[in-house]
Amino acid sequence: MARAKKSIKGFKGDLQRRIVSRKAKVGVIGLGYVGLPLAIEFAEAGFTVMGIDIDKRRVNSIRRKETYITDVLAERVANAVDRRRLFATTDYKKIGDVDVIVICVPTPLRKTKEPDISFIIKAVEEIVKYKRRGQLIILESTTYPGTTEEVVLPMLSSKGMSLNKDFLLAFSPERVDPGNKSFKTKDIPKVVGGVSKSSTDVAALLYNQIIRRVMRVSSSRVAELVKLLENTFRSVNIGLVNEFALLCDKLSIDVWEVIEAAKSKPFGFMPFYPGPGIGGHCINIDPLYLSWKARLHGFETRFIELAQEVNMYMPRYVVERVRRKLNEKKMPLKGSRILIMGIAYKKDVNDTRESPAIDIIKMLINEGAAVFFHDPYINKLKINGATLKSKLLNKKFLKTIDCTIIATDHSSIDYKELLKNSSFIFDVRGALRKIKGAHAKKIMKL
Ligand SMILES: NC(=O)c1ccc[n+]([C@@H]2O[C@H](COP(=O)([O-])OP(=O)(O)OC[C@H]3O[C@@H](n4cnc5c(N)ncnc54)[C@H](O)[C@@H]3O)[C@@H](O)[C@H]2O)c1
Repeated sequence: MARAKKSIKGFKGDLQRRIVSRKAKVGVIGLGYVGLPLAIEFAEAGFTVMGIDIDKRRVNSIRRKETYITDVLAERVANAVDRRRLFATTDYKKIGDVDVIVICVPTPLRKTKEPDISFIIKAVEEIVKYKRRGQLIILESTTYPGTTEEVVLPMLSSKGMSLNKDFLLAFSPERVDPGNKSFKTKDIPKVVGGVSKSSTDVAALLYNQIIRRVMRVSSSRVAELVKLLENTFRSVNIGLVNEFALLCDKLSIDVWEVIEAAKSKPFGFMPFYPGPGIGGHCINIDPLYLSWKARLHGFETRFIELAQEVNMYMPRYVVERVRRKLNEKKMPLKGSRILIMGIAYKKDVNDTRESPAIDIIKMLINEGAAVFFHDPYINKLKINGATLKSKLLNKKFLKTIDCTIIATDHSSIDYKELLKNSSFIFDVRGALRKIKGAHAKKIMKL
């Protein structure tokens, strides 16, 4: 017993010293929207980072010093690679060389809308093969409460290794907001919950080296649930405001004006905005991780289900509004030429995962419309077996379009110029809500 205690102390203290002196090597598994910015932060703070990804294209991009994530500038990648602070590989064999392993792999849904944690399991299986004693493992992938303790811990406790004595394990939710110009990885407070106190101590110390504020919580389960509360909060509030938009349409009241005025209240109100639905890898997926776990405990998460229902209806509603408008002009949807502005799931990112714009495009194509898109961040879109290419916006092309739908309001678009050259725009994002004058008649707001 005394020997075991001594060895915990020795390994924890040594790891802490290595972290503070930046001698600790950090492995980041999964170099996507979460993993790459994190790897760069560690590299810029002076750590040597080994990035592991099963996607050869991503690994090769980093080796070529190129970026594939809009928020991470190529020069930051080049700098980290040139200074030998970051190297990327598909090979897990060297995982024993690192002191800390941070897992940032995807956590999607199955077709049945149940959590798919197979990426986490595959990553941990590889870690188990090559791990060594004395490592700290942190899961950052969003998941249901209990995953770290109930799934990851038993897997790591193999080959005679045990928590605290041989390894430490924590969960720390990633809160990065792609496209957000004000808050980057290092500015966003980090929540950390270990499966043991020592795990929390060392994980918090690690993040303290790269992030301004670290908040410790009492367990990995709490940390897991924190993330799900945050994203459920967004999903429910977006659902509420989307329902408000539907109501405002019935009442012929401008929902944007209502929100703008409500926003003037300095307390007790936080603005959320309506739109074409929810996309991306988080807000429409994470709450379902929670409702699944709740069901296992015989509990029904009614807010989550309702928000999902309202948010998922929005693409259909957009199509119906377009149909209504074209009808007024005695034009059928079939054969109409429709331009979708922005197909990323939100502004200023190049990510189309779960984008509601894509649902809208599919519905319009199925109804026989001729559909085009423009997105400054995305060149091509494979849809219904065909490939659409992002159109250049010029006067001649815009004159041929019957209806433009602003599905994603990227900041770099000259909306005034777009409006000037368009016959009719359905502004689903409020991009044109402040426009007045003659051209304003061409706008239909959500
Ligand atoms: N994108 C966001 O805005 C965001 C924000 C907060 C949290 N999250 C969460 O972070 C996690 C990662 O999301 P993301 O957006 O970075 O995903 P992503 O798809 O952009 O990146 C994940 C990467 O992991 C790689 N990968 C998959 N399996 C692997 C394995 N076994 N070994 C090594 N690499 C593997 C993929 O090839 C991919 O490059 C998810 O759980 C997500 O919910 C995402």
